[in-house]
Amino acid sequence: MAFIVFEGLDGAGKSSLIQLLANDLTRSSMQHIITREPGGTALGEELRTILLRTDGEAPVARAELLLYQAIRAQHVENKIKPALKMGSWVICDRYTASSIAFQAGGRGISENDIKSLNDFSTDHLQPQLFVLLDLPVEESLKRIQKRVDGGQNKDRFEQEEKDFHERIRTSYLKQSKEDANLWLVLDARKSSEDMYKELKSKLIEKKWLKS
Ligand code: TYD
Repeated sequence: MAFIVFEGLDGAGKSSLIQLLANDLTRSSMQHIITREPGGTALGEELRTILLRTDGEAPVARAELLLYQAIRAQHVENKIKPALKMGSWVICDRYTASSIAFQAGGRGISENDIKSLNDFSTDHLQPQLFVLLDLPVEESLKRIQKRVDGGQNKDRFEQEEKDFHERIRTSYLKQSKEDANLWLVLDARKSSEDMYKELKSKLIEKKWLKS
């Protein structure tokens, strides 16, 4: 059993990589859940809609942060802890590191305030591994644009300017350097299959997966 979080800029390819891991776990009959933030619970999904919509009153930065934290508290208590207790793997698309990258790096809120709130909302529950899919900002913006051309609308974050995304990337890289044992950094310009090979080696090294 393991608690693994995937992080990165929008369009980095988290979903495809998560799917490859889940397929492998299914093949090995290892119990797992895939979950995400913002979201993960019924209440969390409702709050997600409020957070990402582009019409209506936008939350100010501090309100935005607190909404993410409310979603997280609900998610940890009602979904992540129960799954871990059952011995299941938890694969989570975004977690505490997103708040530091987006709300501190992106919005300029104090990192220490966010760290305290993260500790509070998670009841100090840390994942065993953060996987960062690192992508140059130009490439992330290109991929977001492709989705938009394919008919999907940009959410509030995807509408932000390039500098905002640069600060987010810088924050992720800083977090991964500060706690190198907790992070695996992958080059998200590579294919999902190539990234998965690197991830799998790491999981085997940690003895969470058999080769
Ligand atoms: P989502 O569509 O899930 O993005 P992605 O598919 O790229 O993960 O939207 C979630 C957005 O919310 C994403 O742009 C990152 C942002 N976010 C924060 O700003 N703070 C947070 O704490 C979390 C969890 C997400």
